[in-house]
Amino acid sequence: MHCVSERTKFELPESEIPTAWVNLGADLGPPPHPPLHPGTKEPLTPDDLAPLFPMALIEQEMSAEPEIEIPEEVREIYALWRPTPLFRARRLEKALDTPAHIYYKYEGVSPAGSHKPNTAVAQAYYNKAEGIRKLTTETGAGQWGSSLALACQMFGLECEVFMVGVSYDQKPYRRAMMETWGATVHRSPSNLTEAGRSQASHESGSLGIAISEAVELALAADDTHYSLGSVLGHVCLHQTVIGAEAIRQLELAGEYPDVVIGCVGGGSNFAGIAYPFIRHKLREGKSTRFIAAEPAACPTLTRGVYAYDFGDTVGMTPLMPMYTLGHDFVPPPVHAGGLRYHGDAPSLCALVKEGVVEATAVHQTKAFEAAVQFARAEGIIPGPEPSHAIRVAIDEALAAKEAGEERVILFNLSGHGHFDMAAYDAYLRGELTDLEFSEEEMKAALERLPEAPALA
Ligand SMILES: Cc1ncc(COP(=O)(O)O)c(C=O)c1O
Repeated sequence: MHCVSERTKFELPESEIPTAWVNLGADLGPPPHPPLHPGTKEPLTPDDLAPLFPMALIEQEMSAEPEIEIPEEVREIYALWRPTPLFRARRLEKALDTPAHIYYKYEGVSPAGSHKPNTAVAQAYYNKAEGIRKLTTETGAGQWGSSLALACQMFGLECEVFMVGVSYDQKPYRRAMMETWGATVHRSPSNLTEAGRSQASHESGSLGIAISEAVELALAADDTHYSLGSVLGHVCLHQTVIGAEAIRQLELAGEYPDVVIGCVGGGSNFAGIAYPFIRHKLREGKSTRFIAAEPAACPTLTRGVYAYDFGDTVGMTPLMPMYTLGHDFVPPPVHAGGLRYHGDAPSLCALVKEGVVEATAVHQTKAFEAAVQFARAEGIIPGPEPSHAIRVAIDEALAAKEAGEERVILFNLSGHGHFDMAAYDAYLRGELTDLEFSEEEMKAALERLPEAPALA
């Protein structure tokens, strides 16, 4: 007989798909530094955002409600893969010979293979409800583009995706996946937009450039909106189903985390796993540590400046208060394509600034070393993005061993790596290098920060 104390998977029935998203904004209060209009530099109003987003999402962006109900139609689609499993990494614990208890929430079971459909489905739903016909977006590694393609297909919306050039070249099957779900995909920078043409010399592309292209297209047509896969408040909000489920699943395991870890591209999967637990910390004084893991080649939280900056390269999006490497910083082409972004979610940046969340930077060879160790122990081949979180989880488990502590570690395994095997191949052949973050390049990008009020 398999007794409970040896359980590997902690699963919830469909009836326990959360009925509400956790809005940490209600706990944090109104932001001391509101987002600003890119032209007037005045605080942003709902009307400023209306050409790009449906009103329901704009309201979520500014909501002070502690919880926001998940529409039934969204929950029905969530039921295709949610609740996702929580695993106890017993084999990894054994391989590390650590007294730590390691848990991971696995979002790779969604049809697109990552956490991104949690918000894609919600965004497609609200746009459809407000009569929109088409969504445009950017994608880095292809995870977000494929998630939005899937969601648009489910709601009968058209989907047009600008894919960062280097990923478009490295990941032809991600493009085929988007096309299978009915989307149109362009290599960015493209010659379809003014923004793309102006950035043609940045041949490998960046998320910032691809965002500019998608926003430009959305602004040009009344029946078209833009959809963002991370950074914004409503995106982080939708991802909190991850942490809400994890709380219930850890209860089943009779545990509570000492450390919660997530990788950070724009901040949404980290917010998803961490914000429901951060609410406990803020309200009940729990002593849990929270660690955000980012790539050393794009070290936004650990080496960026805290300032108002644009979300895109060309400067069409609102100015957001965040740690930034400069909106026109083009990060080196690391394999974790989903982590190549110059800024991060303003809510996460504020939490880092306040010391509620710790940030750490990981080199890609160290991330792949952890990914291979994880795959050999647990079976699942992780995406390069969550491999940054796995590196930190393993290091925490080894530190617990050193200290002789039974630490409970939780991390978000935000996606599988089945479309990233070329990167694994390079790592296994010893051909993967650590791309250095160039101080000169960043200095130059920071000199071009937009004029805006200084942040305290
Ligand atoms: C699997 C996976 N994890 C993490 C990320 C990082 O994004 P975010 O910080 O918004 O979760 C991405 C982005 O594409 C991703 O595809």
